Amino acid sequence: METKLLYQPLERVEADAVAVMLFEDEAGPAELKPVATWLEELRASGECAGKPGEMAVLHQPQGIKAKRLVVAGGGKRDKFDAAALRKAVATVVREVKQKGVKTLAWWLDGGNAEAAVEGALLGNFEPDRHKPSSEAKSLQAFQVVGPANGAELERSYERGRILAECQNFTRDLVNEPANLMTPMLLAERAGAMAAESGLDCEVLDQDRMRQLGMGSLLGVAQGSAEPPALIVVRYRPATPPRSNDHLGLVGKGVTFDTGGVSIKPADGMEKMKYDMAGGAAVLGAMRAIAQLKPAIPVTALVPAVENMVSSRAQRPGDIVKTLAGKTVEVLNTDAEGRLILIDAITYAKRLGCTHLVDAATLTGAIVVALGHVNIGAFSNDDALLGRVMAAAKDEGEKMWHMPLDEDYKELLTSAFADLANIGGRWGGAISAAWFLKEFAEDNPWVHLDIAGTAWLDDAKPYMAKGPSGVCVRTLAKLALGW
Ligand code: BES
Ligand code: ZN
Ligand code: ZN
Repeated sequence: METKLLYQPLERVEADAVAVMLFEDEAGPAELKPVATWLEELRASGECAGKPGEMAVLHQPQGIKAKRLVVAGGGKRDKFDAAALRKAVATVVREVKQKGVKTLAWWLDGGNAEAAVEGALLGNFEPDRHKPSSEAKSLQAFQVVGPANGAELERSYERGRILAECQNFTRDLVNEPANLMTPMLLAERAGAMAAESGLDCEVLDQDRMRQLGMGSLLGVAQGSAEPPALIVVRYRPATPPRSNDHLGLVGKGVTFDTGGVSIKPADGMEKMKYDMAGGAAVLGAMRAIAQLKPAIPVTALVPAVENMVSSRAQRPGDIVKTLAGKTVEVLNTDAEGRLILIDAITYAKRLGCTHLVDAATLTGAIVVALGHVNIGAFSNDDALLGRVMAAAKDEGEKMWHMPLDEDYKELLTSAFADLANIGGRWGGAISAAWFLKEFAEDNPWVHLDIAGTAWLDDAKPYMAKGPSGVCVRTLAKLALGW
């Protein structure tokens, strides 16, 4: 979809539809005077009184060039923020594209151009690459219409366009089935993205990982005929950074998780193609970072493997030696995410990353704890956590700070190795995070468990079913605000 920022009076906008917000506690923009009676009737009948989610369409509106006028409820004006605007635009886009609208203009009326263009691109996304004949129709053009030009408005619009396009890039990767998204194919996609974006990309293969001693990552990979890959993508700012800070983004890239020998139930297993959503999110964030050019160096690391069952697969009870030198007893082969992440985290530190943020569909337990609403955030450093949470808030991605008290550490005790890879039934998301923390050591680190938020089981009025692309905007904003 093509997007544009335009400066034009509302009545002169040319489009299949032009949309404006209507608030519960406001009469509506002065530009809508020619259709004042219609608005009054909408309110009086209760059809659209400006409540969130409400919508009404007027064909051939008087005094307005666009073919349709759409009014969308925004609730109370003082409660209306960027997140609400993003949702409102996405909802309108999803509604009108079903009705044959191809070009939609959005009357900004003082709102946030970034959130508006994000809403349009995210709402227009459909996971229909392999079913192009599907019913979903799509918008061809979206215009953000502002009353007067300004450099800040343009920057904001451009930022939003880039962030949302990169989030959709991630959603496309996550949506690919595992036969079309093996570790090597993910590495190829990362390489192509890096080449297009002017980033550096290096892929460590199995031999290199063996030389380095990444026994934990390789233990997970050994059950699959598909070779593993450790994808490393680098961004370096043009001007030398002011400090030594170097951000490392680590994303879980399990292209399919059968559970291994500790095999998962068949019901719903097809969804485990989204077990690389963390990896795809850090790649999407890097694509945005390449365009938005933050001042801090950023390195992304995606350990990519397939967790399979075979005669070569690792067994419960196997003991592996990690890159960091610690040994791990693999009590459950389905707790594989943490096994690949720890070697990537250790490698990130060797590459000079001072601050680490990982994103991973790590545990079913986080879904039990927080449902499909909040990302679970774990950290050993309040300052870095504060930055991540602020970026998430800015981008309307909900995040909840989870505990990591010392008391949980004993859950990972193993009789035969330095650590066990599982901590028992209770507090499963916390013991998983503790396992990672043991390898982040003294580096400021934040772990984002996105098992509950990276995939939508049911479509929402503002979003298609399937991959959400969560964390892309937050991670890119984190780098931008450094
Ligand atoms: N990929 C799963 C976690 C997951 C569950 C992601 C549901 C998305 C939705 C992870 O590898 C896993 O299987 N974790 C186990 C850990 C357990 C064996 C300690 C889990 O959560 O059950
Ligand atoms: Zn698993
Ligand atoms: Zn997994």
